[in-house]
Amino acid sequence: MTDTLTICRPDDWHLHLRDGAMLKAVLPETVRHFGRAIIMPNLVPPVVTGAQALAYRERILAAAPGVGLFEPLMTLYLTEDTDPADVAEAHASGLIKAVKLYPAGATTNSASGVNDFDKVRPVLEKMAQIGLPLCVHGEVVRDDVDIFDREAVFIDTVLDPLRRATPGLRVVMEHITTKDGVDYARDAGPSVGATITTHHLVINRNHLLVGGIKPHYYCLPLAKRETHRLALRAAATSGDPTFFLGTDSAPHLDKDKESACGCAGCFTATNTMSILAEVFEQEGALDKLEGFTAHHGPAFYGLPVNETTITLTKGSPVPYPAKIDTPEGPLTVFDPGFALHWRVEA
Ligand code: NCD
Ligand code: ZN
Repeated sequence: MTDTLTICRPDDWHLHLRDGAMLKAVLPETVRHFGRAIIMPNLVPPVVTGAQALAYRERILAAAPGVGLFEPLMTLYLTEDTDPADVAEAHASGLIKAVKLYPAGATTNSASGVNDFDKVRPVLEKMAQIGLPLCVHGEVVRDDVDIFDREAVFIDTVLDPLRRATPGLRVVMEHITTKDGVDYARDAGPSVGATITTHHLVINRNHLLVGGIKPHYYCLPLAKRETHRLALRAAATSGDPTFFLGTDSAPHLDKDKESACGCAGCFTATNTMSILAEVFEQEGALDKLEGFTAHHGPAFYGLPVNETTITLTKGSPVPYPAKIDTPEGPLTVFDPGFALHWRVEA
């Protein structure tokens, strides 16, 4: 039985770090285990220009001791007013690694996102030309589409037409939650990658809703029915380089989640690697953990893998904090609902 596993240091290809006191509180949770992370730009106000991304990067690097070994990979938030020249310049300087598309109103802080895709056509064409990936929150926001169907409808009615209209555009389907997402990404060829979160490998919609509503399992896109979770687990553990880890670790204060109108987001940075080791072991695929967490993402983004490693060891259940403290109050760490036996060595 394997009880020690050394892998290249993983990266997180979809992470929310926020700003200010929250940034200071959550950044160490990621830096402890991860080499790099794609940093989501949905601050208030959003990170729209190269200048804003540069300033945000500096705030991240200043926010935590030991952060020097960690590399934030910055993104810009696509709006209908985004300037293709600013995007191209931020890419050419090495500052940004992707642009993020939020359909307007799809999720937390997405009000400045895109309504009219014709307005962003020049930016998308420029991105296709320079090889800059578009990270896509793949849900439609139409009232007539059930929230559990929004990903599948987005793929058919928005993503596929958008890709056909923009040949060469590289796309990351962010936090896929359905078999439809798995199938589309797998069959789309090398210009499409897909991130999968930690929590969508663990919970289905019953975990969220049966026996009382669980606000800390509420995230967008919502966890779906069990068949979809199983498709995600099969994809993540398959060794297919299309699929890589994007935790979508999305901290919100407990008071904002445990509320009559609770915020969406699961905070998984703290125990993600222990959870993933458990999941991959359950699937008989521990040998695929390194690919999913440390190789496939850099390959898609055209970056080298990390030079350092982490070691996981298996033993008695690993304690982790139920909550992280911030000056504004606690935030709850994702509870996978099973014991974690894999510890990341310091
Ligand atoms: C994210 C957040 O809180 O910023 N929430 C979430 O449920 N995943 C936004 C997002 O990625 O959709
Ligand atoms: Zn996210």
